[in-house]
Amino acid sequence: MQTTSMHGMWSSRLAFIFAATGSAVGLGNIWRFPYTAGEYGGGAFVLVYLLCVAAIGVPIMIAEIMLGRRGRQSPINSMRALAEQAGASRAWQLLGWMGILSGFLILSFYSVIAGWTLAYVFRAGAGLFEGIDGAASEAIFSALVADPERLLAWHTVFMVLVVMVVARGVASGLEMAVRVLMPTLFLLLVVMVLYASQAGDFAAGLSYLFTPDFGELRANAGDAILSAMGQAFFSLSLGMGAIMIYGSYLSSHASIGGNVAIIAGMDTLVALLAGLAIFPIVFAQGLEPSSGPGLIFQTLPVAFGQMPFGAFFGVLFFLLLAFAAWTSAISLLEPMVAYLVENKGFSRVRAALLAGVAVWLLGIACLLSLNAWAGFTVFGKGILDLFDYLTANVLLPLGGIFIAIFAGWVLDETVSRDELSATNGAVLYRIWRGLIRWLAPVCVILVFLNAVGLI
Ligand code: PHE
Repeated sequence: MQTTSMHGMWSSRLAFIFAATGSAVGLGNIWRFPYTAGEYGGGAFVLVYLLCVAAIGVPIMIAEIMLGRRGRQSPINSMRALAEQAGASRAWQLLGWMGILSGFLILSFYSVIAGWTLAYVFRAGAGLFEGIDGAASEAIFSALVADPERLLAWHTVFMVLVVMVVARGVASGLEMAVRVLMPTLFLLLVVMVLYASQAGDFAAGLSYLFTPDFGELRANAGDAILSAMGQAFFSLSLGMGAIMIYGSYLSSHASIGGNVAIIAGMDTLVALLAGLAIFPIVFAQGLEPSSGPGLIFQTLPVAFGQMPFGAFFGVLFFLLLAFAAWTSAISLLEPMVAYLVENKGFSRVRAALLAGVAVWLLGIACLLSLNAWAGFTVFGKGILDLFDYLTANVLLPLGGIFIAIFAGWVLDETVSRDELSATNGAVLYRIWRGLIRWLAPVCVILVFLNAVGLI
């Protein structure tokens, strides 16, 4: 068993927690959670999402970190090595390949949305939001997404920033940045929630998020439950190897269960805070909760335009959000880069550039789907929406099933016990094992079957 990775190691357990929280907390929490919750009617969706985080997300995150730490390589090579050790088929490495595909598709649209965030830093700073109402805010947003050149410029800036870090190696630098900026983002979200509780319709926002209306859910239950589960996978960075590769840089002594409790807890808290900051404003301004991916970009500027020091808070907020997106994007690119370094003998710089350019090119298709190619749709969705839906709702949960089956059924029990039981105790280990063998895979399969109408 290897005790270190050729790509470097986290300097401490805390460094891992920061990096993994940096991966988990991102646009998924602040951009995607509110808009999907809004599309599926609020409370009932949120409840299903929370259940999925606890029953499916947490055990799978433990499994993913464990597999990464045991394999100590890129997900493809880790899975191949672990399967060989367990006497199982080498086809398990396909899990790693599927993860690369998911990371590739996610990052291509993620970078475009992160680009919106960067663009909004400047719109906030220029005082563009001063005194605007919901309609004016929607107009600003529409003007941005209708302009492919601007989108391309910001998408490019963001990808350059991501490639720069990955080219140097994620272990260095990431920790310090996350240590300072993540708590600042958190505080700022709290400020936004406080503002929303004063200026927005807080009661309406609260009841929208936390009073489950199952009638609403039943109308389109299969799709809504699938999307709540997909949101849990997306937000926790599960099912594509990002958390697996971060686990491969974790020391063999650290307790995995304890770390996961912190990471998943923080991630969920940030998503709920984002919801609490946004929905009171949505209702006070008469905006549509179901207005889709533009939701936070249409609502928050209204708040910044009215609150004292709004330009300052606006710049800070979008800057920190871009930063949170950046620490997530790094983890999306890392598995591909590690693979290229391990198997093709590329330098890190060359590998990061190559993977970065490929993602950048695909990102152009995503940003064009918002304007010039708006007419081109598959299943009624443009490319960006399609990638978003397909990765979160299909590819990541599928990856999750395979991770659960591998960790629960294929991997020797002595291995998982050795990795988990010493630090987390035998009782918690047994609970985890039950969840990963039965509950997690069965739930994901039921949700899939339900979504396609088979049950
Ligand atoms: N979890 C990240 C977010 O919420 C996105 C992500 C998904 C990152 C999958 C890595 C892997 O923004």
